[in-house]
Amino acid sequence: MKLAVVGGGSTYTPELIDGFARLRDTLPISELVLIDPDAERLELVGGLARRIFARQGHAGTITTTTDTDAGVADADAVLLQLRVGGQAARQQDETWPLECGCIGQETTGAGGLAKALRTVPVVLDIAERVRRTNPNAWIIDFTNPVGIVTRALLQAGHKAVGLCNVAIGFQRKFAALLDTAPGDIHLDHVGLNHLTWETGVRVGGPQGADVLPKLLAEHGDAIAGDLRLPRQLLDRLGVVPSYYLRYFYGHDEVVRELATKPSRAAEVAEMERQLLTMYADPQLDTKPELLAKRGGAFYSEAAVDLAAALLGGGGSPHQVVNTLNNGTLPFLPDDAVIEVQAAVGAQGAVPLPVPELDPLYSGLIAQVTAYERLALDAALHGGRERVFRTLLSHPLIGQYEYAEALTGKLIAHNREHLAWA
Ligand code: G6P
Ligand code: MN
Repeated sequence: MKLAVVGGGSTYTPELIDGFARLRDTLPISELVLIDPDAERLELVGGLARRIFARQGHAGTITTTTDTDAGVADADAVLLQLRVGGQAARQQDETWPLECGCIGQETTGAGGLAKALRTVPVVLDIAERVRRTNPNAWIIDFTNPVGIVTRALLQAGHKAVGLCNVAIGFQRKFAALLDTAPGDIHLDHVGLNHLTWETGVRVGGPQGADVLPKLLAEHGDAIAGDLRLPRQLLDRLGVVPSYYLRYFYGHDEVVRELATKPSRAAEVAEMERQLLTMYADPQLDTKPELLAKRGGAFYSEAAVDLAAALLGGGGSPHQVVNTLNNGTLPFLPDDAVIEVQAAVGAQGAVPLPVPELDPLYSGLIAQVTAYERLALDAALHGGRERVFRTLLSHPLIGQYEYAEALTGKLIAHNREHLAWA
């Protein structure tokens, strides 16, 4: 089995490699190709990747290349984990929206739109290259904003599934709190990427007993503390929102907080410098502890599980993924991309049924779906007016004065990445 990772020079890659090595019985990779435009990083990350495989006795080969076409040739699955413009572009996304009193975040709000506009054309170009060499290859998209990028891929007819680690993070967390194996926990997980709620926590599978009320009663403080939301809010909702909902439920509070501290991009850039120095050490043959300070915990395990299921070799039968709505949430168009539990196999991902949702959640999901559709139009066709309309549609923006000011800033800060600007 051959796997290619686009954005393989990411400092995150050792997390992925560690998962591939540990879980090789689930996903037997014989050939792994790391693809990245940054040759220097590729060498550092590729070197450590090979040492991790060697230490763990993995017989697969790891090669590196800056040539996407050569790298994806004949791959069975291609993982996309790229970041157009790197942490420098992220730094911008997290900063200029704050000048308007709006959230500065890499996937939510105006910064998320900027990222979508930079990213969609690049990802579609790569996907075309994949399809040319192997039309049967699966594309697993980690590239943010995952909902919009996955929608772009599916709309262009690619064999793609979008993936995020929020659900697997909750699954591991809840399993630990309940003192049970992660595989025993089935989440009723619903929404859009980075806009989800856990409406049930079942033991043993989709039909298992819902222990969410008990979990909230016994561990509500710990869960709320992690999310940085008030415990009382969780009790009143009776569900567990993802930490990205804090940007909605606590928008103004977060804006005040962001104004007083360095951006996450700046923190990450500093960590990346340290990590790359560590990766250069020929003695290092494990993923460093420092990597745990990044947000990507368990993403390797989610990737292995999904790739194994798609390539027909195993993996969990039900996984939380980003895929076409197709009537699952009846208040959304069929071609919307949602993040829910799905039956996953060689044919792809088919959402499991979702019980009727409280309007408190369906209303926000519907509005952000409309935003995502407009965002994709803007990413595909460009133009100032499309950016304005998209920002106006976002529930965290909504007013024309803000939308207008943010449109100007978005374009000014991203000109070099936008072919039409
Ligand atoms: C979580 C999200 C990812 C996001 C990451 C950011 O894992 O699910 O989509 O990219 O956090 O982590 P970072 O360490 O880059 O802030
Ligand atoms: Mn994510």
